[in-house]
Formats: sequence, structure tokens, C-alpha cells
Amino acid sequence: MSSYVTRKTPGDTAWFRHDRFGMFIHWGLYSMPARHEWVKTREEIPEAHYDKYFQYFNPDLYDAREWARQAKAAGMKYAVFTTKHHEGFCMWDTQYTDYKCTNTPAGRDLVREYVDAFRAEGLRIGFYYSLIDWHHPEFPIDLHHPRRDDPDAYEQSKGRDMHKYAQYMRDQVTELLTNYGRIDIMWYDFSYSNFNGTGDRAWMKGKGKDDWEAEALIALTRRLQPGIIIDNRTEIDQDIWTPEQFQPTEWVRHPETGELVTWEACQTFSGSWGYYRDEQTWKSPEMLIRMLVNTVALGGNLLMNVGPTSRGYLDGRAQGALKVYADWMKLNSRSIYGCTMAEPGLVAPPDCRLTQSEDGKRLYLHLFAYPFLHVQLRGLAGKVDYAQFLHDGSELRFTEGKLDHFGDALPEGDDLLVLYLPPVKPDCLVPVVEIFMK
Ligand code: GLC
Repeated sequence: MSSYVTRKTPGDTAWFRHDRFGMFIHWGLYSMPARHEWVKTREEIPEAHYDKYFQYFNPDLYDAREWARQAKAAGMKYAVFTTKHHEGFCMWDTQYTDYKCTNTPAGRDLVREYVDAFRAEGLRIGFYYSLIDWHHPEFPIDLHHPRRDDPDAYEQSKGRDMHKYAQYMRDQVTELLTNYGRIDIMWYDFSYSNFNGTGDRAWMKGKGKDDWEAEALIALTRRLQPGIIIDNRTEIDQDIWTPEQFQPTEWVRHPETGELVTWEACQTFSGSWGYYRDEQTWKSPEMLIRMLVNTVALGGNLLMNVGPTSRGYLDGRAQGALKVYADWMKLNSRSIYGCTMAEPGLVAPPDCRLTQSEDGKRLYLHLFAYPFLHVQLRGLAGKVDYAQFLHDGSELRFTEGKLDHFGDALPEGDDLLVLYLPPVKPDCLVPVVEIFMK
């Protein structure tokens, strides 16, 4: 089994660590202004104007089965769908507010269609649920809130009862975790208990676990869906740590105990979670693959985000990015699923990354920059039975131990194994060498 002992998790994370790769889906009314899911607060859009998105939201081209097919082809094994984002709009037929998709021209339960379609394709089902709610009448205005600069912000906010809002969340989570079958992941987002106003805004308090009544929310979540995986953004440690929009450089550790934790990096194809029409920072194909490999090479999962259009389809850029994953994973997914960080003592050569199967029997060398003819691997002499390119299963020869035909240019060491590569890089974004250990 893997050489690495990780912090115990309340939920069932064995499948999660095996599957490694998921799809994040950020979809809501913010797909209509189409300039970031925080647009309402970034631009402090007045309620009357934001209500136009509610009035005209009509995802007539929504076909969750098409999304599911693309996610599956990309090699994604689970998905996390925004049931409610910070704007407070609900993507399912909730009984606790009228601010929901079934009251828009959409006229249908969008969560239901997501669940049915992705489950039918064999993907595990996750829900994202925002703890923040810029529409709910009991949610106190704070420094993140779109109404924070209204002249009467204090009058609007005073008397709002966070307990009532916390109960609203529990009621909605009860609906989500009761009416849609088995749910594998609950992704709460996010806490900011230290983000407090000062001066005449001192009444604008941040919000954290006590405001969410997070203990009760988590207990409810686990009661309704035993084994479910929960993230750590309620401010109470649960199953997964969730580094966002950056690449960790080592296996994520628990901040207090230093234990290795189960972790999932969440990233976007471009600079926005929600559909952003004019945003141009789309990641290159090479970067997309390298991000996935980098993550698994450090024992983590990657949750890669799509932001559907308000018409309900994934735009060409998103479909192109998913196709990059589909083409690479079709031939190379063995270096991802059921793999983790290489055993202690094995160091990846320059411009390479290593992953290893949990049982230690297969080692994967990912060639980020294609080397000239040889790759030198320390610590592997005498341990390797066979090696091949993963994409086409073609043999790669190797020699071991101290080699004299390199003359004295080669570093000393009987533990050396040298792989011989063809001079021309194969037609594969990131070629992978599959190494079968003895
Ligand atoms: C941050 C963003 C939020 C996004 C989330 C995804 O919390 O504020 O918009 O949904 O990251 O991880």
C-alpha cells in the first residue's frame, strides 16, 4: 500500500483519492452578465437591475447529458455543481424561497437534471452550497455584500437574524440531501470570520463557523448522507482541504498537526469560475495537463471548473479544454487513477514528475520537457522489470548501475537507471513512461 499515512477523514475518501479528477460547475444568474460570479458585489449592482437576470434567465439549450458525456470523456470521475452561489439564487425547486430557477423562464429543476445525467454516466455527485447569500433578507450586510455602500446599509441590515438564515440553510440542505439520492460530496463555501469592518463600518462583521451554526449543519449533512465528503470551508476541519487557484508545491499538511491531509485543488480554465465572455486568460493545453499531473504527483485531487453560458451550454473554449483532457486521459489515465506521490527516496529528474500506483508496483515518469535521448533515474537500479511509453505501449530500453560508455561524464552511482528515449518527442502533450517495478 501507499507509503503515505494521511489524516483520518470522517467521510469515505478512499474512492475520492483513487479517482483524482473532477468537474466543478459554476452556473447561476451571474452567467447572464457574464463577467464573473462575483459581479453583483464587484459592481454593486442594484437589486432592481439584478432582478432582470431573474426575469430573463432561460437556459433553453441546457442538456446536462451533453455536459456529463464531456466530463466523462475528459476522464473526470465526479462533479460538483453550484446549487446556490453567493448571489442566493437557487438552482433547484426549493420550498424555502421564490428566488429559484423554477420561477424563471427556465421553469425546471436544473439540479435534478444535473444529478440524473451525471449519475447516468457513472460520475459521483457533488453539491456546492454557498454559506454566503447576498439575496436572503436575514443575511446581515458585511464587507463582501453588494449593499455595503448603500447610504442606508445599516438600516437595511439592522434586525436581520443570522439564526433564521442558519435555519434556512439547514432547511435547504435537508432538501438537497434528501430529494436527489446519494450525494457523495458537499462543498460549502466560504468563511471569513476575520474580515470585519472598522470605524463607521465596525458593525459589518465577518462570518464563520458560529454564524453558519456549522456544527449543526455538518451533523445534519452527515446524518442525511452517511459517508459523504465535506470540505473545510465552514471553518471546521472535515474531509478535504481545498487550495484554490494556486499549485501547492508539496503534499498539503494539516496546519496544526502537520499530518498529510486529503486535498483537492480547485482551478479554472480561465480567470473566472462563472462564465466570463470577455475574459481571455485561458490556460494552454500543456498547462492543463501539467496541473493535473502536478496535483496527483503531490497526492492531491484536481477539481477543474467549467462556467456554462446562460443558454445552458459549455462554450467552445470550455469544450476545447475538456477535449485536451479527453485526448490525454484516453491514453494516459493509468498514471492518474489510483496513483499518488512516488515513494520516499524517488526524486523526479529535471522537468519531470513522478506518480506511483498505491500498491507501489507501477511508477509513472511524466516528461514535461522532452529530454535529449536519455533520462537518468536515481535509486532505481535493480528495481525495474520493464518500461514502456504509456500512450502507445512501446518498449523503452534501459541500462542500470555504473555505465562506462558515457565515459566519465556520468555521475558515479550504482543506483542509476538510464532510460533511452527516441530523439523525436511522441505526438503526446506530456509523454509518460510506465515503469513496472520488480
Ligand atoms: C471562492 C470564490 C467563489 C468560488 C469558490 C470556488 O470562494 O469566491 O466565487 O465559487 O472560490 O472555490
